[in-house]
Amino acid sequence: MTVATWSAPGKVFLFGEHAVVYGRPGIAMAVRPRVFVTVRKSRTAHHAKSPYIDNCFDEMGVRGSVYVNSQLPSSSGLGSSAAVTVATLAAINDEFGKKLQREDIANMAFAIEKKVQKGRASPTDTTVATFGGLVFITGLARRRLPPQNFQLVIGNSMVQHNTARMVEMVAELKTKSPEICEPVLEAIGAVSLSAMRALSDPVRLGELMNMNHALLDVLGVGHPQLSRLVLASRAAGAYGAKLTGAGGGGCMIAICPKHAKSRVVSAIEACDARAFSTTIDQEGVRKEKDA
Ligand code: MEV
Repeated sequence: MTVATWSAPGKVFLFGEHAVVYGRPGIAMAVRPRVFVTVRKSRTAHHAKSPYIDNCFDEMGVRGSVYVNSQLPSSSGLGSSAAVTVATLAAINDEFGKKLQREDIANMAFAIEKKVQKGRASPTDTTVATFGGLVFITGLARRRLPPQNFQLVIGNSMVQHNTARMVEMVAELKTKSPEICEPVLEAIGAVSLSAMRALSDPVRLGELMNMNHALLDVLGVGHPQLSRLVLASRAAGAYGAKLTGAGGGGCMIAICPKHAKSRVVSAIEACDARAFSTTIDQEGVRKEKDA
């Protein structure tokens, strides 16, 4: 009996979450850990009830069973739903001999994310999960950037959040107070563009992350625990820190001098949170050896 196992990386938004949903530029990066998905042909579906996985099978027009093995915490802002969707599509493609290219998988995964998130999503997470590396997003255009060896610490607040809900909250705020919200989204876009000019300058990137965090707070997607972790990281020697992903809980990132990384990890953990250090994962979705 055949099985197909594929994996896809997680992602962090370095700059521009939420603003990208409104066509502003953003920068995201693939990170470890990865999500592993095994698909097997079968007449009856055997998998955890997930709207993402259900949609993958519907879109591909097949039925099968799925086993997901993820070290990436779900609902934490690290793109686990996109990684699961992309790896599931790639595994179905392989197992059922469909002839989709990577680009098709990225597009189909984006359409699924958009459907599950009720029409509001950027192609960021699905692009990063498919192609890996460092990616610049603006509107529907996406471009891979030369890899950078950023020294990052990721802090997980362990506060549950819901991406679709956070995206909806920003949409509501935008309707209620467009005169405040629009300039803030514009400013976040300007932060991403400034970061594009400073990719080899971690000190400047840290400053820009701090600004980005404050702007996200204005949009109402902050959380006291995220701000606590951000402040603790800065005090422990990070160049800068911000929430990453949808906010309202989930994760934050800190860009650090290499020698300060373990201090930053300890500072975050001292705030009742989990932390790990990471760097770029250059590889997108890939086939794993069959067991
Ligand atoms: C979620 O990781 C990032 C958001 O910008 C939504 C999206 O880009 O689809 C909030």
